[in-house]
Amino acid sequence: MDKFVITGGNALTGEIPTSGSKNAALPALAAALLTAEPVILKRIPRVRDIRTMQRLLVDIGSLVQVEEETVRLHTPQIVCPEAPYELVKTMRASSLVLGPLVARCGRARVSLPGGCAIGGRPINLHILGLEQLGARIRQSHGYIEAEAPDGLHGATVRFERITVTGTEDLMMAAVMAHGETVLENAAREPEVTDVAELLIKMGARIEGAGTSTIRIQGVERLGGAEHTIIPDRIEAGTFLVAGAITAGDLAITGCNPGHLGALVSKLQQAGSDVTQPTGTTLRIRGAGKLLSVDVTTEEYPGFATDLQAQYMALMTQAEGIAIITETIFENRFMHAQELARMGANIRISGNQAIVAGPHPLTGAGVIASDLRASASLVLAALMARGETVIDRVYHIDRGYEKIEAKLARVGAKIRRVE
Ligand code: EPZ
Repeated sequence: MDKFVITGGNALTGEIPTSGSKNAALPALAAALLTAEPVILKRIPRVRDIRTMQRLLVDIGSLVQVEEETVRLHTPQIVCPEAPYELVKTMRASSLVLGPLVARCGRARVSLPGGCAIGGRPINLHILGLEQLGARIRQSHGYIEAEAPDGLHGATVRFERITVTGTEDLMMAAVMAHGETVLENAAREPEVTDVAELLIKMGARIEGAGTSTIRIQGVERLGGAEHTIIPDRIEAGTFLVAGAITAGDLAITGCNPGHLGALVSKLQQAGSDVTQPTGTTLRIRGAGKLLSVDVTTEEYPGFATDLQAQYMALMTQAEGIAIITETIFENRFMHAQELARMGANIRISGNQAIVAGPHPLTGAGVIASDLRASASLVLAALMARGETVIDRVYHIDRGYEKIEAKLARVGAKIRRVE
C-alpha cells in the first residue's frame, strides 16, 4: 500500500489547478446508461472512484473510451443490469446506476452498499422513491432487485431527509417515466444541478434543479450529448485550507468560487485573506494569527460535510476553542484521533468536536481512514514540525487527482512511497 512522506513547515505559494468534480462525474457517467447514443463527458477527474464506475459501466454493457480527461460512453444495449457487491463495497456511489438501469431496461440488481468508515450509508430513500415511481423491489442476499416491466410512472416523492445521490438517482429514474415527477426536499448541491444540465442536453425535461423542488416531465427517450463537468469544489476547498494552514499565498484556479461561499466566509472570519481575482480563481493569503471559529455542517449551500475534516485540521492552529458540529454523518470524526497523535487538542462529545488551539503539531506515523479524513492528515502534515508518514493513501486516490504533484508544485515537501 502506498504511503505519503511529508515534511512540514513550508508556506505554500503559487497556483493550483482544480480538476473536474468527482461527485458530479459519477452521476454523469451513470446517466450515459439512459441512452443508446454516445455521451461525451469532459473534465472527468482521473481518480480511483471514476475508474471503479467506468469498470462497472463496462460490465453493464457500455463501451468506454478514456482520452486524458475526456470519456466517451456508448451503451447500445444493457447486457447485465447489475452492480455486484465486489464493486459496490468499494464505492457506495455505485447505487447511482439503479435509477438509470430501471429507467432504461426495466430492471436492476444492485448490491446494498453496506456501511463505510463514516456511517451506515443506507439507500432506503432511493428504494422508497423508486417504489413510488412504480418499481417492484425485493431485497435478498444483500442485493436489491428492482423491476418495472411496464416502465415507471410519475409521482411526487418527498425525501424524508436530504440525500444527494438519492436526488440524482431518482431524477435519472424519472426522466423517461410516464407523466410528471416532483422531487420534494431535494438536494441542492451543485453536482445535482450539473447532472440535471447533462440530462436536459440529452433531451430530458427538468425544472428546478438546484432548488428543493425538482419537476421532471417524462419523455419517450433520451439522446446523446456532450458535457463538461463542473470543477471539484471539495478539492478546491481542500487547497484553500492548505493555503491557510501553511500561512502561504495560493491561487486556486479553474474553480467555481460561487460553490465555496460557506468555507470562504469561515476562513475570512478566522483571519485569512481570501480574494477572488477572477471568475474562476480564489486566492488565499494565510493570516499571521488564526482565530477559532465554530462550524456546523449542513446540506448545500451550508458548510459541506466533505470539508469538515480539513477545517478541523486548520482549527488545531487557531487561537481559542472551535466547536465543530457534524450533522450529516454519524461517524465522521475518524481523523480527530490521528490529529491528536500529532499533538492536536480535540475532544469529541457526541456529534461535536471541541478543538482547542493553537497547538503545534509534530510529524508522526498516521493512518488514513476515509477520503476526506486522509486529506485532513495531509494538511496537518504540511505544517507539522518534522516528518509525517501517512499510510493507506489509496483513500486519497479515490477523490484527489495527483494531489502530491499539485502540492509539490507550490512548495510542499511530499513524496509517495510505493
Ligand atoms: C454524497 O454522498 C457525496 N458522494 C458524499 O461525498 C457527501 O459527503 C454526501 O453526499 C453529503 O454531501 C457523492 O456524491 C458520490 P447523502 P451520499 O445521501 O449521496 C442519509 C466524498 O467524500 N441517507 O446525501 O451518499 C445518509 O446516511 C463523499 O466525496 C439515508 O438515511 O450522501 C447520510 O447520513 C463522502 N438514506 C445523509 O442521509 C438514504 O437513502 C446524507 O447522505 C440516503 C442517505
